[in-house]
Amino acid sequence: MQTLVIGGSRGIGWELAKLYAAAGDMVIVTGRKAPDEPSATIAFRELDLSPADWSTKLSALLKDTGQVDRLVYAPGYYQEGTVTDLSKAEILDMIQVCGIGFTRLCHACHVKLTSRLAQSRAYRVPEHL
Ligand SMILES: NC(=O)c1ccc[n+]([C@@H]2O[C@H](COP(=O)([O-])OP(=O)(O)OC[C@H]3O[C@@H](n4cnc5c(N)ncnc54)[C@H](OP(=O)(O)O)[C@@H]3O)[C@@H](O)[C@H]2O)c1
Repeated sequence: MQTLVIGGSRGIGWELAKLYAAAGDMVIVTGRKAPDEPSATIAFRELDLSPADWSTKLSALLKDTGQVDRLVYAPGYYQEGTVTDLSKAEILDMIQVCGIGFTRLCHACHVKLTSRLAQSRAYRVPEHL
């Protein structure tokens, strides 16, 4: 089994990555910075989802990756306070990472997914998003 955890370099994604690795999966995690905890069984690939055009890096990652049996999307950040505490830039960053990022990943990744159900239910979105 090959598991790809987007936003898996720390937090919930990293904890899931460790569980899947312990179960015998080949695991790749992504993030902007490498995980703080070293791991011999989990590979890290840098992928920053904030810039508008990160699809080139994603394409390179998927090219190297081969099939994806399990796909986890866990990037983002826990925001203290309420929505009124957020600046416009923070709101746009969150939408980019958690919303558009997820949709674009499904679009780019669905042909790599081994599950037919996942393939048939993956989103198709216009390239300009
Ligand atoms: N923790 C909770 O109790 C909780 C509850 C409900 C929902 N959530 C949601 O679950 C998600 C993950 O939460 P968490 O607590 O695991 O957060 P976390 O510990 O901060 O981990 C977030 C992960 O996303 C990556 N990431 C953040 N911004 C990124 C960006 N711009 N581009 C690429 N990767 C990025 C981080 O790596 P880098 O920093 O290296 O990029 C890290 O791997 C968030 O969306 C959060 O709102 C969390």
